[in-house]
Amino acid sequence: MDPKAFYAMSYGVYVVSTWDNGRPTGCTANCAAQITSAPATVMVSINKDNYTNRCIRDCGHFAISILAETSEPSVIGRFGFRSGRDTDKFDGVPYSIRDKLPILDDCCAYIACKVIDKMETSTHTVFLGEVIGAETLKKGTPMTYAYYHNVIKGKTGKNSPTYVAEEQAPAATEKYVCSVCKYVYVGDVPFENLPEDWTCPICGAPKSKFEKI
Ligand SMILES: Cc1cc2nc3c(=O)[nH]c(=O)nc-3n(C[C@H](O)[C@H](O)[C@H](O)COP(=O)(O)O)c2cc1C
Repeated sequence: MDPKAFYAMSYGVYVVSTWDNGRPTGCTANCAAQITSAPATVMVSINKDNYTNRCIRDCGHFAISILAETSEPSVIGRFGFRSGRDTDKFDGVPYSIRDKLPILDDCCAYIACKVIDKMETSTHTVFLGEVIGAETLKKGTPMTYAYYHNVIKGKTGKNSPTYVAEEQAPAATEKYVCSVCKYVYVGDVPFENLPEDWTCPICGAPKSKFEKI
């Protein structure tokens, strides 16, 4: 099997949200898709180790905030490299409640769903959701997974269904790599000259978490 063949598949970048006993929570996901139009249904594939998986099961509802190319990249890291088990991910992140679900303000559209079925794979649960609400929130080009990789230079969380281990390995030249999310620093300013309060643009980790490779 050629793992590179999977690179030819296309995805968006989303925050899949739900409620954790009245507290909003969720995770970054790229594996989401529309399945039917009438009635409208969509699916998301969520790792069984993700806290979001447990919360969607308990709540019975989830929403997909569709990120735009202009969305703040740190949101992807905040929701994709931390767990709602020990972090209040929505703390300080602007959101509103729409169709009774937490939706990020910084997204171009959202889709709210009621879980109508589940399929268990060895690692992920595929949640099938009947759409109970959907709206375009602002103009903007939806962010593709390719844009996230090629332009933002972000990496994939290991719990994504599309995670490829080799992707995480940086090139052999001297580089500074975030030990939390594996983002490789690419700015024009030499890494050493960045201010001490500089943080990883993807996951928000401090400069001290970067390692020279
Ligand atoms: C770009 C990106 C895409 C991701 N896609 C998925 C996905 O489709 N499904 C999934 O289960 N996890 C995915 N992840 C990993 C989760 O976001 C990550 O494991 C998160 O920390 C889980 O948080 P939780 O424990 O609060 O649910 C992705 C992460 C990133 C950075």
